[in-house]
Parts: sequence; C-alpha cells; structure tokens
Amino acid sequence: MNSAKVGVVLTDSPVLRINDLSVSRTGNIVLQDVNLTVNQGEFVGIVGPNGSGKSTLLLSILGILKAQSGIIEIYGKPPMWKQNFEKIGWVSQAAANLPKEIQITVRELVQLGTVKLSSLFFDKNKQRSRKLVDNALKILDLEEVQNVNISRLSGGQRQRAVIARALASEAELILLDEPLVGIDRETRNDLLKLLDNLCHNQNKTIIMVSHDLTAIRQTTHRMIYLEETIRFDGIPPDFPNLQELALLRGIDDVHGGHHHNHAEEHCNDSSHKKEEE
Ligand SMILES: Nc1ncnc2c1ncn2[C@@H]1O[C@H](COP(=O)(O)OP(=O)(O)OP(=O)(O)O)[C@@H](O)[C@H]1O
Ligand SMILES: [Mg+2]
Repeated sequence: MNSAKVGVVLTDSPVLRINDLSVSRTGNIVLQDVNLTVNQGEFVGIVGPNGSGKSTLLLSILGILKAQSGIIEIYGKPPMWKQNFEKIGWVSQAAANLPKEIQITVRELVQLGTVKLSSLFFDKNKQRSRKLVDNALKILDLEEVQNVNISRLSGGQRQRAVIARALASEAELILLDEPLVGIDRETRNDLLKLLDNLCHNQNKTIIMVSHDLTAIRQTTHRMIYLEETIRFDGIPPDFPNLQELALLRGIDDVHGGHHHNHAEEHCNDSSHKKEEE
C-alpha cells in the first residue's frame, strides 16, 4: 500500500508496528483493533473528528498511555524503551501553552532539543548543536525573537518555538499533534516543505495529526483516517471524498451522533482553528 516512495532504503524492521491495539480512557474504549505499520522515511498524516482518538494514539505510541491490549513496537522495542528516547521527537497538542512562568528565551527552549549534544564538552558537538538551533530558528522564522523570553511571545510564535525544538533534536521519528494550529500560512508551507524534506532527504519518519486536510493531502505520502479504529489507510489521491467519508463513518455509528459534521470540517482548511498571531 505504501510502496509509493522511491529511493528509500527500508530497514529490516519497521519504525513502528501496532497490532490489535485497544486503549481505554476512564473506562471508555477510545481505540479498538488499531493495526498500523510505519516504515522509515514515511510521512504519515492522521485525520479524524474531534475525540476520535488521534492524540490517544500518539500518547500510546509514546508510552504515556498504556494499552489495554495489543502490541506497540518502536524500532522493535516497547514504548518508553530508554535507548529509543532520543530517537523520538514529539510536539504535543497545544504545545504552545507552555507555563508562562518559565523564564527562558526562545533560543534556550530550542536548544533543549539538543541537550545531549550540547552537554558534551567537545567543541565539535557545541558547534553542531549551535548549527541545529540556528537552522531550526531560521526555518520557523524565529531569528528575530530568539532572545525574547517565551512568556512574551504570541501563541503562534510559541507554537513555532516548540516545533523548532523538535526539529533541532535530530529525532528519527517525529510525532506532531496539530502543529499547524496558530501558524500563519507562509510559515505553515515552509514547515510542511521542511517536514517533507526531512523524510525524503534524511529518511526521517514523521507522523502528523492535523485537522488541516488540505495540508495533509498535499504534503503527506500516506493518509490515515482514524475514528476509534483505522477506517482508511492509503495514498492521498485515494482518500475518500466527502460522500464516501460519510458512508465510511455511517457504517459504525453506534456511538451516537456527537461526531456529526466533522467530515465537512476536515475539508475546511481548519481556518477556524487558527489563532491570532
Ligand atoms: N485526559 C483524559 N481522560 C479521559 N478521557 C479522555 C482524556 N482525554 C481525552 N479523553 C477521551 O478520549 C477520547 C479520544 O480523545 P483524543 O484526545 O485522543 O481525541 P482526538 O482525536 O485527539 O481529538 P481532537 O481532534 O479534539 O484533538 C475522547 O472521547 C476524549 O473524551
Ligand atoms: Mg487531539
């Protein structure tokens, strides 16, 4: 299904393997029978209505939430495997809501992503860390505010800062939960281009949750529609249109009508979710 990528050397074991995963939160089943394999170099977009379990899936991959049943393996190991820590980057949903009392500058925040490198006393690593930070600040258009305290930034700038931190970390697998909220169109396009480049040129693996269906369609190599379970998994051109999507969702509508209208929402370019810069 995802053999569309050219020039990518696949490793023996996939980056992520999920088998028959079920996850409950406060007694309610949120994810059920999720099966997903992601290979190195893939750029996967996850869409689905509010409350459909997208964040829950990412939190389960990270090991923050425990599976009720099923298997999750990252680089062949269970979640929270210590040796995998630095291989995984995560931008949490509403990551921009950093505690206001934290007194660090944008540059310092981004530098936290490279802590391992910069904590070593070799000049080479310091230089490398500085380069990674410079690069991330540039890409996210934060150079001018790099010495400003994060508490003084706008929501959009803070969002960009936490993404920059994930980029500077050099993680192999990057999980992004709604990273585009609050970001202006131009920066958004730059960011998407960058993520695409990371996959193509550096063979990184990216899983991005977003309500921005247009962005996901245009940028990712593979789309997943998640609503308690995976209801679509394929290349963007094959993603169901509005009617098909409604049908797909209607098949299993035993959970009440509280999810209605979201099919339309996914095609709305999510502008309603954007904050003021
Ligand atoms: N902290 C929590 N405790 C208990 N239940 C939760 C918690 N967070 C979310 N849930 C429930 O789990 C389900 C899935 O939530 P989740 O946050 O994974 O959805 P989502 O697809 O990420 O939604 P959104 O698009 O709004 O971010 C929802 O029914 C939600 O009510
Ligand atoms: Mg979420």
